[in-house]
Formats: sequence, C-alpha cells, structure tokens
Amino acid sequence: MASESTTTDRDTSSESAGRLAEFPENARQSGETGLLIEAFRTFTLASNSLELTFSQLQSRVRRLTEELEAKNRELERSLREKQEAQEYLRTILEKLPCGVFVLEETGAMTLCNPMAAEVLRESRGEAGRFRSDELRNLFTASAEEKREEMEITLAAGGEKKVLATSGAPLEDDRGRSLGTLHIIRDVTEVKALEEKNQRGERLAAMGEMAAELAHEIRNPLGSIDLFASLLMRECTGDLRNWAENIRIGARSLNTIVSNMLHFTGPLSPVFAEMDIHEILRETGSFCEPMIRQRGVRWEIGLAADCSLINGDRELIKQLVLNLIFNAMKAMPSEGSLAVRTRNVDGKNRRRLELRVEDTGVGITPEHLDKIFDPFFTTNKNGTGLGLSIVNQIVESHSGEIRVKSKVNRGTVFTILFDTI
Ligand SMILES: Nc1ncnc2c1ncn2[C@@H]1O[C@H](COP(=O)(O)OP(=O)(O)O)[C@@H](O)[C@H]1O
Ligand SMILES: [Mg+2]
Repeated sequence: MASESTTTDRDTSSESAGRLAEFPENARQSGETGLLIEAFRTFTLASNSLELTFSQLQSRVRRLTEELEAKNRELERSLREKQEAQEYLRTILEKLPCGVFVLEETGAMTLCNPMAAEVLRESRGEAGRFRSDELRNLFTASAEEKREEMEITLAAGGEKKVLATSGAPLEDDRGRSLGTLHIIRDVTEVKALEEKNQRGERLAAMGEMAAELAHEIRNPLGSIDLFASLLMRECTGDLRNWAENIRIGARSLNTIVSNMLHFTGPLSPVFAEMDIHEILRETGSFCEPMIRQRGVRWEIGLAADCSLINGDRELIKQLVLNLIFNAMKAMPSEGSLAVRTRNVDGKNRRRLELRVEDTGVGITPEHLDKIFDPFFTTNKNGTGLGLSIVNQIVESHSGEIRVKSKVNRGTVFTILFDTI
C-alpha cells in the first residue's frame, strides 16, 4: 500500500514540473505568475524531500521487519529448544527406575513421576495428597534433616511396603521455597531377602551348635549303652528287661543324634569291604527284643549268596537302624517286620537287594514324594531327618532306593547295592 501511494505521489510531482515548463512567457513575467512559480518550486522541493524521507522510512521499516522476523525465528527456536528440554526431562522422569515427587508446603504434590505414583498408590488420596499427615510429616522431616537415606514403612492397602527415601528442600532461583523434593525406592523385596539371609545365617549358626551338642551327647550315650549291656549280663528277669530297654533307648537317641550330625556336616564315608549280613544280624539281634515286646513279629531272611559290598560300616548300620525304627513307629502294637536280602542281576555284576518290609500304617500318595525331604515328618516327635540321611547314604554308596506303600497295608523299602 505504502509503495503504491509513493508512486502516485511521484507521478503527480513530475507532471506538475512538466506543466510548469510549458507555462507561456508573458504569464511568467506577471507578479502572480512569479508567485505561483515560486509556490510550485517550493512544492516540488518539499515533495522531493518528502519522497526521500519516505523512501528512507520505507527502508527502515524493511530493516525493522527483517530484524523482527529474525527475532521471531530466534524466539521460536528457543521456544522449541525449551519444549525439547522439557520433553527430555519428562521422559527421564518417566523412565527413572525410582520414584520422584515434589511435596509443597500445602501438602500438595506438584510433581509425581509414574514410579512414585505406583509406589504411593495406596497411600495417596484426594488430589494426590497423602492420606496420612503422619506419613507426610515423615517425608518432610527426611528432607529437612538431609539424612543420607531413610527407611519408611507404608502399611496402606493391607500390604506392607518398605521404602528407602532421600529428600532435599527445593527453592527457586530467587530463594523462595517450592517445597521438598523426594526420591523413593521400593526396597520391600531387598529387605525380605536380607531378613531371609539373616535367618539363614542364624540357622547355620544353630546347625553348628547342634553338631557340637550332638558330639557331646554321643559320648555319654555310648557309656549308657555299655553299662546297660554290662547290667544285662549280670541281671536276670525284669532287671534284665529294664537294662535292655535302657540300651534300646540309648541306641535310638544315638541314631537321632547321628542323623543330626550327618545332616549338619558333610557325609564322608570311609569305604572298606564289608558284609551286609553281618550288620543285619547285629542290628537285628539288638532290635528283636524291642520289636517282640510290642507284639510285632520279627523275621530275618538273609538269602543273598554274596553279601559283600564296598561300604562304610557305621553309615550302613545307621541306614538299617533308621529303616527299622521307622517301620516300628508305623506299627505301634501289632504287625510284622521283615528284613530280607537276595542277589539280583545288575548291569556288570550281581547286586544285593535289601528289603525292609512292614505291615504298618503306610504312606499316603501325597506324602510319598516328600518323605526323603529333610524335616518332613508326620511323627509328633520326629525330626524328619532319618530318610533324608538314608537317601544320602545310599547315594554316597552309588546305590538305589525305592519305596512302595499302601495305606493301612504296609510299606516296603528296597535298596540295591553293587556287590564286590
Ligand atoms: N515304614 C514307614 N511307614 C510309614 N511311614 C513311614 C515309614 N517310613 C517313613 N515314613 C514316613 O516318612 C516320614 C519321614 O521319615 P523320617 O525321615 O525317618 O523322619 P521321622 O522318622 O523323624 O519322622 C515319617 O514321618 C513318616 O511319615
Ligand atoms: Mg525316622
């Protein structure tokens, strides 16, 4: 618009200059005409100067427009950069593996990243504020005291959560308080693991103590066994029976204590050529009176031609005693207990099969999978260690163990060893 009007003006002024030149001589000479001419000249001059000023103004406007455009571009760029930086920060806050939130003095949360929102879900109520003032105060205090890290337990929603939190007061660049900034981590699982670890350590310490105790108990038990056997030799009738009962009690205790010792320490068999029949006869004759006393029939059938194996005598004795004691516990009053051996064909050599059979209460199918687990027991005073030790002994002798059982019919444990 501006340039259009300038062109029009300029046209008008050159037109008048042209018309001035065409003025007749006589008219120019008259006074009026002189004045007119003067006026025209002044007008032309003024018009020229106006034209100049206008064009200067025009170029200034152009420059200013350019400057404005440049400024605008710069502004846009800085705005874009600001938005990008904001977006960048938002993404970082969203992806942070810990919770971040800002707590205003009014109790409102001005910023809460998704992790913080998730962790505090149950503890936040209306408008994102903490449901409990106590909890809010705890967080504020943690920021004021600038402690390294503090633990806060949340109990909202019925589920206990442990948070590790650290905080700091937040101020703007003019030093005005914006509230407190908090960083939180859910350490519930870590805490549970730590506790489990501590429990494990305590258990291990207890295991060591139990092993020492078992060691101390075994010596006096040996003496009780020995003196009871001496008494048995000297006495007759009831006295002999009583002495026999003392021996059986001492042996049973010794088996329990040995199970504990084997469980807490590593099982390290000392292998030598040994006769399983010998062990069976020995333990059989020792247990027989006790078995008969309960009204249970005792049977021993040693049918194997070859009963020599490479084994640890003490451990095999422990194995047989555990199986016999278990069978007896399954038959509180009547029934029959049989220990049998026979040779069966193995891959390379003949194997010795040892069976301990009872007609007791049997094992339910659900329990059958668990009986070899340490501490699994259905007996009121049981430790649940017997069969787990039996299993370890069989494994350390490269043997095999099987069990068959019918509830209220009885149980058969079968063990296979390589013979020599
Ligand atoms: N001969 C058996 N008859 C019935 N149940 C048995 C027999 N032997 C073992 N069990 C079952 O296996 C469980 C584990 O046995 P064991 O490891 O020796 O521990 P404990 O004798 O201390 O109970 C017993 O509590 C019992 O339920
Ligand atoms: Mg047992």
